[in-house]
Amino acid sequence: MRTKIIGHRGGAAGYPENTLAAFKKAVDFGADGVEFDVQLTRDGEVVVIHDELIDRTMTGSGLVKDYTLAELREMSAGEFFSPEFKAEKIPTLAEVLKVVKGLEVINIELKNYLPYPRLEEKVLKLVDQFGLREQVIISSFNHYSLQKIKRLQPEMKTGCLLMSKMINAADYAFKRGFNALHLHFLTADQEVVEKAHFMGLQLNVYTVNFPDAVAGLLEKKVDMIMTDDIEMALEIRDKI
Ligand code: G3P
Ligand code: CA
Repeated sequence: MRTKIIGHRGGAAGYPENTLAAFKKAVDFGADGVEFDVQLTRDGEVVVIHDELIDRTMTGSGLVKDYTLAELREMSAGEFFSPEFKAEKIPTLAEVLKVVKGLEVINIELKNYLPYPRLEEKVLKLVDQFGLREQVIISSFNHYSLQKIKRLQPEMKTGCLLMSKMINAADYAFKRGFNALHLHFLTADQEVVEKAHFMGLQLNVYTVNFPDAVAGLLEKKVDMIMTDDIEMALEIRDKI
């Protein structure tokens, strides 16, 4: 099995993260897939943005959940990166799925540290509307939410995100019926990769932006490498 190269937040190295500009470029670069973050607006729209606060990436301030989609659309979601991307707006999940639907892997991260009512149901509904059950893997640091996804749609692939090293991480994910471990790349040693594979789990790593680290993880045979620099990772992977 060849390790897949996944554009983290669409591939945030050269483009504003989680914008349609980044997702279109990930497709052009030939990434195997993309990863991105979803949250809910005040009027219940699923939007693609990383932080709960809009302050870092948008020309406004406050929480995503306190704005309607129309209000968020009045702001730029690309200017923080460069004036060239001033016209980029916060995308909805539907808009992103439309752009990336041809990719092998679509990793939707539920960014729900804050309570987002029915986020799981809304995401599953959109995935079904686009006919993308096979391609999508839903991940989250909120494991309660992942268990809800499994209850609602047992065949949906789920990735259990962990921030730091956990003893028996593979057992933890397996016991909860998750399909993959999504680990910080520095915690992905050979032992956990082999244990995950032995238990039938995928072992996916984030966020790998150093060529040496990409090469090392390819050797360990991880399943997916999430990176901001798609071109760099593809070049290394395709040389092997
Ligand atoms: O999904 C992997 C990775 O994106 C998790 O970290 O903070 O970049 O969403 P973060
Ligand atoms: Ca993420």
